[in-house]
Amino acid sequence: MNKSREVRNILITGGAGFIGSNFVRHWCQTYQSSRVIVLDALTYAGNRANITDLEVTGKIKFVQGDICDRKLVDELLLVENIDTVAHFAAESHVDRSILGPGAFVQTNVVGTFTLLEAFRQRWLKQEKPQDYLFLHVSTDEVYGSLELDDPAFSETTPYSPNSPYSASKAGSDHLARAYYHTYGMPTIITNCSNNYGPYHFPEKLIPLMCINILLGKSLPVYGDGQNIRDWLYVEDHCRALATVLHNGKPGETYNIGGNNEVKNIDLVRLVCQLMDELAIDIPVKPSSQLITFVQDRLGHDRRYAINANKIKNELGWVPQVTVEEGLRKTVQWYLENQDWWQPLLSSEYQSYYQQVYAVAT
Ligand code: NAD
Ligand code: TYD
Repeated sequence: MNKSREVRNILITGGAGFIGSNFVRHWCQTYQSSRVIVLDALTYAGNRANITDLEVTGKIKFVQGDICDRKLVDELLLVENIDTVAHFAAESHVDRSILGPGAFVQTNVVGTFTLLEAFRQRWLKQEKPQDYLFLHVSTDEVYGSLELDDPAFSETTPYSPNSPYSASKAGSDHLARAYYHTYGMPTIITNCSNNYGPYHFPEKLIPLMCINILLGKSLPVYGDGQNIRDWLYVEDHCRALATVLHNGKPGETYNIGGNNEVKNIDLVRLVCQLMDELAIDIPVKPSSQLITFVQDRLGHDRRYAINANKIKNELGWVPQVTVEEGLRKTVQWYLENQDWWQPLLSSEYQSYYQQVYAVAT
């Protein structure tokens, strides 16, 4: 394998969110020689507390701001002498994109464009442009939905996004691709499957189920519960992204998956079993009694699955955490970190919950 890229000053957008904050932590623990700047607007999904310990110990610099703010982005790239961008910032929840797609187009498309264009202007002026890299973190949802017997998504699967979320991510992927093909700017796109693990915002399936079990609330499973997702433990994803940053080839796309295809209903039953086993006291036991099938999500994709052979064969990355191991760690984390998630069940969250689940139940 060729010599790894050196990352000197990295800008991590969306570093206060779920995957971003896990990545910031992973990067700081593993690669202490680079400077880390986090840019995050702290939307409802962003939580500075996720990375405060790294901020107070001087391991990162945190800047609150919007990726759509070109002046701010220009200044940051220049003043912090950024050579590498790891772009996580996005509106990320499908159900919210159904309620209000506008914010998704703004952040995911316009925001990504703003970052790409600012980075291009900086990259153009460098003496060693080959040392620069823009990593665009995206999703498998851009590929659309699979039937049960379809082969898993590969890097050459045609795009076919079905939700406003996935359509906006597809738009941003196309821009990142075009910046490489048109201008030669070094960009890499990664498309990963459903992540799970610590610091996952309560609206997503796994944390929602853990929290509702602790609160004795019903566990809403959309439709018939037979939808399939390929679950990737967030630490495995972070390792994959670090590998891509060091050894990935500009202009390429890498799919990242967990090799863990599970039906939603089976996953929820697994969470229930783990909660019954690990929680000292829960209002309803067995907690599976709380499972309630509710009206399906609009346009709900049936199955996602990732073929991760390319990143395995070219960069040597494979996922290490099985869904059983990862879920156990995740459930334990939500049990031990109630102080983290309780404040997130704000009035904004309650009103969102009401809108999605009052319609659904
Ligand atoms: P998240 O919603 O938990 O975090 C998003 C972060 O971006 C938040 O901290 C938020 O404050 C910040 N942000 C939002 N709009 C911003 C803006 N305009 N300017 C600056 N910051 C802004 O999302 P996540 O689950 O951590 O996802 C991170 C990335 O990974 C996203 O690009 C998402 O599309 C992609 N992805 C996520 C998953 C998953 O399972 N969570 C799967 C595939 C791909
Ligand atoms: P989610 O965590 O929202 O991720 P994504 O939509 O990006 O895959 O949902 C995962 C799966 O769980 C998806 O098929 C929708 C389903 N789901 C439910 O059945 N009930 C819920 O309350 C939620 C939030 C999701």
